Amino acid sequence: MTVTDTYQRPIISLRISITNRCNVNCFYCHHDGILPQKYEMTPDEIHRIAQVARDIGVQKIRLSGGEPLIRDDIVEIVSKISSIGFKDVSITTNGTFLDKYADSLVEAGLNRVNVSLDTLKPEIYRFITKKDYLQKAKQGIIHASESGLYPVKVNMVVMKGLNHDEIWDMFNFCQENGAVLQLIELLKTENCPDNGFIDDYHYKMDDLEEELVNRADKVKTRKFMQDRKKYFVDGGEIEVVKPMDNTQFCKNCTRIRITPEGKLKPCLLRNDNLVDFIEPMRQGKSNEELKKLFLKAIENREPYYDKCS
Ligand code: GTP
Ligand code: 5AD
Repeated sequence: MTVTDTYQRPIISLRISITNRCNVNCFYCHHDGILPQKYEMTPDEIHRIAQVARDIGVQKIRLSGGEPLIRDDIVEIVSKISSIGFKDVSITTNGTFLDKYADSLVEAGLNRVNVSLDTLKPEIYRFITKKDYLQKAKQGIIHASESGLYPVKVNMVVMKGLNHDEIWDMFNFCQENGAVLQLIELLKTENCPDNGFIDDYHYKMDDLEEELVNRADKVKTRKFMQDRKKYFVDGGEIEVVKPMDNTQFCKNCTRIRITPEGKLKPCLLRNDNLVDFIEPMRQGKSNEELKKLFLKAIENREPYYDKCS
């Protein structure tokens, strides 16, 4: 069974944000609220959420944050989710704890990771994140590949004047380590800081895509994936994510999220129509009642961009 929303979009994937805490502080980050650690969802609660999601046909789980690997119980969380039997269990991380956790996460049933890394230059890394963890992040990517997580994707947010000249260096680094490069357009959501970063750094991906088309041996479109293009270049792979002013981004979105506060969030880019899940669950509601909350959040799904067809 797969549930479809009112725009005929099947809901295939659930993104569970398991913490707001993060050990880096990227200036463009679309934070998902502020929640003290003591109120974070427990591994058993996360497990139950995943079970209910499975019951309504969700096939893929992604853990995100904040930085999900900042949680001491991350291996237990992955293990509990994996035991349910999803097609795909993945994590989006800044990679700085991957060297420590990659092997145990594989053992716990994790399939793959996406690692956020925007630059290979220490001074730019420090400017973006306010920390000096570049080596740790690189080591995390290398170790993740060696540990059997596949594919390892490197998420590079492309920014004008900051790192847009590093795309091919980053691609070489990915190729050396068997990783896919994912180029992400800088975007502003309602939760982003209002520090003018879009005016300063937004980089239009159009010229870049033209270059990719010229260099690629093959181009594929990922269906039901926000119309993303995959470019195959010199035996490697580059994926482009363009969320800004892109109606196709919404049309092909198959995801629902749950925030660290335990609220179902129908859209990454919008802050309305959230459905509280954790309180009813903590009050002892049955799986049937909890399923209804998922269905309500799915029914609430409205595209961010006007058109969705
Ligand atoms: P895979 O392609 O399955 O590896 O996932 P992903 O690349 O989408 O996941 P990741 O967490 O690495 O996020 C990369 C980009 O996807 C983000 O920068 C967003 O543009 C987009 N994204 C993240 N979360 C959501 C979401 O909840 N909904 C939608 N529509 N897009 C999202
Ligand atoms: N614009 C584009 N991408 C962003 N991410 C976080 N904030 C933004 C933003 N404002 C990216 C991170 C991570 C992915 C999940 O989202 O770099 O890789």
